[in-house]
Amino acid sequence: MPEPTLNVDADRLISRLLELGEIGAIPGTTGCARLALTDEDRAGRDLVRAWMTDLGLDITTDGIGNVIATMPHPSGLAPVMTGSHIDTVATGGRYDGNLGVLAGLEVIETVMAAGIELDRPLAVGWFTDEEGARFAPDMLGSLVYVGGMGLEEALEITDRDGVSVGDELDRIGYRGTAPIPGPAPHAFVELHIEQGPVLEDAGITIGAVEGVQGISWTELTISGQSCHAGTTPMRLRKDPGIVASRINVFVRELAERYGAAQVATCGVVTHVPNLVNVVPSQVTMTVDLRNTSEEVLRLAEAEFAAFVDEAAAAEGVTVESRSLARFEPVDFDPQVIDLVAATAERRGHSVLRMPSGAGHDAQMFARVCPTAMVFTPSVNGISHNVTEYTEPADLAAGADVLLDVLLALAGTDDA
Ligand code: HGY
Ligand code: MN
Ligand code: MN
Repeated sequence: MPEPTLNVDADRLISRLLELGEIGAIPGTTGCARLALTDEDRAGRDLVRAWMTDLGLDITTDGIGNVIATMPHPSGLAPVMTGSHIDTVATGGRYDGNLGVLAGLEVIETVMAAGIELDRPLAVGWFTDEEGARFAPDMLGSLVYVGGMGLEEALEITDRDGVSVGDELDRIGYRGTAPIPGPAPHAFVELHIEQGPVLEDAGITIGAVEGVQGISWTELTISGQSCHAGTTPMRLRKDPGIVASRINVFVRELAERYGAAQVATCGVVTHVPNLVNVVPSQVTMTVDLRNTSEEVLRLAEAEFAAFVDEAAAAEGVTVESRSLARFEPVDFDPQVIDLVAATAERRGHSVLRMPSGAGHDAQMFARVCPTAMVFTPSVNGISHNVTEYTEPADLAAGADVLLDVLLALAGTDDA
C-alpha cells in the first residue's frame, strides 16, 4: 500500500460535531439530548441532511426513517457504506454516533474535492433509534434496514407514553418511501468512539473492532400491594420495591461472579406511586445483561430468570417479564478488520484488535455484507454521559483511517 496522500479536513469535521452538538444541548454541559424521533432529533436530522444536500449527494429516506446519502457515480454498483446514528440518550455526548455520520460525510466531501476516481460510490447513512433509549430495541433502524424486523412491527413499537414509532416518524416528517429491507452495500465500515476505557488505558489510538458482544434487555413489571408505610407490619407487606432491589443486587453479584466479560445494569427502576409514605404498588425495571459469549449470556439469563421467580414468590408479588432486545454476539469480517488494522499502522497509529462492549449499527450490517468498525479512544472511558470527550487528534486519526479503508474498499488505493 502506498503512503497515505489524503487527509480529511479535521477542523471542518470538528466544527460540524460542535454545531450538531448544539442541537438539544443540555445547559451548562457539553452534552446533548436528542432522543429518537423527538423534535431535537428532527432538528439534528434536518441539519445533517442539509449538509448532505449541499454536497449534491443522492439522498434516500426509507420507511423507518433511515437516511442514506450516496455520492453520484456512473457505475450504479452497490456503494461502500459508512454511517452510524445521530439520536442520543437523554444525557448524551457530542460524539456517540455523531462521529460516525459526520466523519463519513467528511470522507465523501474530501474524496469528491480531490476528484478521486472510484470503482464504486461511497455512501453515508444515519439509522433511526440506534440508542433504543426511547423505543426498544436498540439499533432499530439498521435492524429493519437489513430485514431483521418487519417494518410494520417496528412502526408499532411504543415509548413509555404509548406513542408509536410510526406516529412520530409522521410527526417529524421522516417516514420515507425507500425500500425496506434496503439494498445491501458492498461493504460497511463504521467509525465510533469506544465508549469505554480500553484504548485509553493501553495508550492506543485506533481500535480494530472484531465484533460486538451479545445484548439482552428485559423489562420487569413487578406488582405488589400499595399500603401505608407506617401502619403496615413488615410481615404483611407485598413490596415490589424490595424485590426490585434484590434483583439489582443479584445481577450485580452475578456479573462479579461470572467475571470480566459479563456486565449487568438496572438502568430503569420506576416506583409507583413513588411517595415517601406509600409502599409501592408497582415497580417497572430494566435489566441489561451482556457478554461476548452467547453460551455464558444464556446461563446468566437463566440464573436471572430463576432468581426473579424466587424473589417474587418470597415476597408474594407478581412479575411480568418482557424482552426489549436480544442480539447474539456478532463477529465482523476478518479481511475488513485486517484492512482497518493495516491502514491504521500504515498511518503510524498504534492499533488494538478488540470487541465492542456497546451495540452498533454495524452489527446489523454484518448480516448482509463484509463489515467492521474503527474505534477512537474515549477520555476516562466515559460515554452515555454529558462529559463524553475524545481528543481532536484522535477524532482526526479515526476519520483518516476511515478514509483510507473506504477508499481501499471502493476500488482505489489513493489512500
Ligand atoms: O446500548 C448500546 O449498546 C448502544 O448504545 N445502543
Ligand atoms: Mn453509538
Ligand atoms: Mn449510545
